[in-house]
Amino acid sequence: MHKLFNTYNFTNFSITKGNGSYLFDNKGKKYLDFSAGVAVNALGYNHSIINRSIKDQLKTGIMHLSGSQLHKYKTDLANILSKNSNKGDVFYSNSGAESIETAMKIARSVGSKNKKTQIISMTSSFHGRTLGALSLGHNKNYKSNIGPIPGDVIFCNFNDSKDLKKKINPKKTIAIIIEFVQGDGGVNICTKEFAKTIDDICKKFKILLIADEIQAGVGRTGKMFAYKNYSVSPDIITMAKGLGSGIPIGATIIKNTISKNFNIGFHGSTYGGGMLQTRIAYNVFNFINQKPFLTAVLEKSKILKLGLMKIKNEHEDKIKEVRILGLICGLEFHEKNYALKIFNTLMKKSLITTIVQGNTIRITPPLTVSKKEIKEGLKIIASSLSL
Ligand SMILES: Cc1ncc(COP(=O)(O)O)c(C=O)c1O
Repeated sequence: MHKLFNTYNFTNFSITKGNGSYLFDNKGKKYLDFSAGVAVNALGYNHSIINRSIKDQLKTGIMHLSGSQLHKYKTDLANILSKNSNKGDVFYSNSGAESIETAMKIARSVGSKNKKTQIISMTSSFHGRTLGALSLGHNKNYKSNIGPIPGDVIFCNFNDSKDLKKKINPKKTIAIIIEFVQGDGGVNICTKEFAKTIDDICKKFKILLIADEIQAGVGRTGKMFAYKNYSVSPDIITMAKGLGSGIPIGATIIKNTISKNFNIGFHGSTYGGGMLQTRIAYNVFNFINQKPFLTAVLEKSKILKLGLMKIKNEHEDKIKEVRILGLICGLEFHEKNYALKIFNTLMKKSLITTIVQGNTIRITPPLTVSKKEIKEGLKIIASSLSL
């Protein structure tokens, strides 16, 4: 019995510790974690980068500083995020949804000068659970029976250039928001052709491009930002999850052409940019942003892909599609509700995955997962499908 608000399907075991790609429960059972706290724990568990950052932070005696108080990590992290993306300015918050709210507020403010407030989002999109973020998400189940949510958002069919051209209204549309790899929607990967259409349209009509990098950013696709798999240049970038690799942090990067027009007081966040979280994120980002690390992500992705394709060939009747970019992968099944069934079987066999939309399980191991651990996970998946 517990007194937790019943909004999650809680596990029937309690976790006590973690190490590398593994979690351990209170009965000593060991789990291989191919969810990584829903694509958060980029460096897995008990990683020296995080541990050392926390120890170093303790030496300062500081737990909190106000938003206006500068410190080394606040500025250093902003500088590397900016340098490695659109050279913009950084606003810190605590979560993905908050970084989305920031992006949305900025886009609406830019548009308000010309009475343009419409934002185009994508079908199957997910951008968070606050009311503003929910308005940008496509899944109706997440936003029914909660009264009015902010409006003027329309949805374009993901990867459908024709639909986007039809839906754009240069007099109304201020921004397009996209996850270049949709996470919650079923691990749907943006095509190069669709990304080009978005880029052309944004440039032609001066529409802002918002890249939601909350799940697929920070090395997850083998590049520091998922949008870097395409020829696009986002005006606003939202980040969270892997950026803190377990410590809550959100960041919104805003191109200078936009950020220069905003004044003090436009936005704020009490805990945003704290010394602990920016220190950790700075060290995590630099650790991941190295060629050998990112090359290893792609090599491990190849092993995962080959293994899953082999399993698919052996189970054509069960697996409909394997979608993968770097270390974010979706396994879609034919039979209704099979994803839930296989998720439970995998859990019983000590492999943690996540269920997402579209009868799909999502695999997002820590980026530090070893090739041996990937093979171990593949074996568990193969044996579970044979049941
Ligand atoms: C693409 C994307 N955007 C936004 C969010 C919301 O992030 P948070 O749960 O930290 O508010 C998520 C969370 O899963 C996400 O995957």
